[in-house]
Amino acid sequence: MDTSHIRNFCIIAHIDHGKSTLADRLLEYTGTISDREMQDQVLDKMDLERERGITIKAQAVRLNYKGYELNLIDTPGHVDFTYEVSRSLAACEGALLVVDASQGVEAQTLANIYLALEHDLEIIPVINKIDLPSADPERVKEQLIEIGLEVDNVILTSAKEGTGIQDVLDAIVELVPPPENTVNRPLRALVFDSFYDSYQGVVAYVRIVNGEISPGDKIMMMSNQKTYEVDELGIFVPDMKTVNKLRAGDVGYVIAGIKDVKNCRVGDTITLSNKPAESPLPGYKKVKPMVFSGLYPTDSNDYELLKDALEKLQLNDASLSFEPETSEALGFGFRCGFLGLLHMEIIQERLEREYGLNLVVTAPSVNYRINTVDGEKLEIENPAEFPEQQQIESIEEPFVRAEIYLPEEFVGQAMELCQDNRGEFKDMQYVDRDRVSLIYEIPLSELITDFFNQLKSKTRGYATLDYEFKGYKESNLVKLDILINGEVVDALSCIVHRDSAEARGRSLIRKLKKLIPRQMFEVPIQAAIGNKIIARVNIKALRKNVLQKCYGGDVTRKRKLLEKQKEGKKRMKKVGKVEIPQKAFMAVLERN
Ligand code: GTP
Repeated sequence: MDTSHIRNFCIIAHIDHGKSTLADRLLEYTGTISDREMQDQVLDKMDLERERGITIKAQAVRLNYKGYELNLIDTPGHVDFTYEVSRSLAACEGALLVVDASQGVEAQTLANIYLALEHDLEIIPVINKIDLPSADPERVKEQLIEIGLEVDNVILTSAKEGTGIQDVLDAIVELVPPPENTVNRPLRALVFDSFYDSYQGVVAYVRIVNGEISPGDKIMMMSNQKTYEVDELGIFVPDMKTVNKLRAGDVGYVIAGIKDVKNCRVGDTITLSNKPAESPLPGYKKVKPMVFSGLYPTDSNDYELLKDALEKLQLNDASLSFEPETSEALGFGFRCGFLGLLHMEIIQERLEREYGLNLVVTAPSVNYRINTVDGEKLEIENPAEFPEQQQIESIEEPFVRAEIYLPEEFVGQAMELCQDNRGEFKDMQYVDRDRVSLIYEIPLSELITDFFNQLKSKTRGYATLDYEFKGYKESNLVKLDILINGEVVDALSCIVHRDSAEARGRSLIRKLKKLIPRQMFEVPIQAAIGNKIIARVNIKALRKNVLQKCYGGDVTRKRKLLEKQKEGKKRMKKVGKVEIPQKAFMAVLERN
């Protein structure tokens, strides 16, 4: 079987540099989708993705061009999904590297280039948005040369106006190598994405690396030896179209009665159960959640609803984890694990929007490894479950390697921010005359505490950030408790470095004072480490009468006000005698 007509490629880019728009143009130009069917950004299937303009799930689509079969594999463009990106890249021989002509190279551009180089991909640089008045393609070229890329084949495009699209397609055909023809070897198919369909079960996106697969074949997932029978095979054009065979080099989908995405994880290798490959494809990793937070329904009657919703979301998302958790303050809820902050936000938003849930969400935390004085080793994701201070021998926390990319003029501010967040300087490099890349090792817990917002504001939005998990390291950490009206509110506890505990405690109670409405009685708010109170403020008593603003007897206005107040109440949680708004639980997150 000849594979010389096949090209498998992906598009890599920093967020917003135009990846989806370019993909749309390629689909349009090759007639894969007609103008009439053309919706903006077809590849981003979920509404939420479209609204937020981000790509969450990798997708694949086959384009026919001048007799060639071009398989476009879309990759997610956010740091939380680096592993998924790496698996998508592993399914390709080439990559279009899209760089915004006015923004130039950014943190994720670099991270993606490194990933693409690791996978030996042919990189075709595409400088996009050349229609913009601020476009400076020459400068972008210089940056690319500085990184060590060839720019002889660089293509200039305006995905928005449709300029340069044919050049891109021709370059794919000419420069991306065809896949190796290894159809005679035992089957190895790389799963680079999957989704759950309620009728057909799991639909796995695969790249056939070796061998071939047909309907009726008995297959085996190499990570867990589970076996299934292939019900259906197909390709995306862009809708699903069944085929009778997928062979080495092909990209398509496999349906085999798999009931759970957890049994068909991204990166796993599918082989034939009666003629298995000797070894799986390299690079499989079971992704572990890195960021955790408690999700509680504001109305405790919604607990079952929340459970159902999480179960449904998990069907499609093997990296979402959750287990029941009780909080004295918030009642029954779930401790959920996410790949990162964006992943967390996406899940929260879907729960609220698609399932109509009102949630109280606790500040995100990381996974701590605790060695107790009794020689026990604990892994704890919830600050509320921390052992007593005197029980703790040592604590280790996850660190990440963060790469910050920014104009030289902001280097001072960025370094200060990193240092304030316990960052350890590793390296600094110039990428061109005035763009700098800074490398720091930072505790993940600091990175998820408002770091990115602060970085953005200190660099007037210019800095970009990319990070990867590095490992666990010992740190001098303590648990900071918050007492409201004399009671510890478990959902407000957080783990902080001992040196910054007092400052953090003070700033946190000041913020809570502003966020918690006055009650009928005076409410003390205290910060404590163990039994030691380190800071205190009081919220003065007040008799609140919302109706006093309505002079006269305008009933509708009064009702409106009452309804508004009720609406506000939904977002409140009663802790002891005190009503605490949802925002207070996130206050732990923000600095200053
Ligand atoms: P993510 O999905 O978030 O990774 O972003 P993306 O890289 O897919 O970017 P997307 O295609 O969503 O484009 C981002 C923005 O840039 C959108 O508002 C596009 O309309 C705009 N855009 C894309 N290409 C061009 C272009 O060639 N010229 C101009 N002026 N705008 C463009």
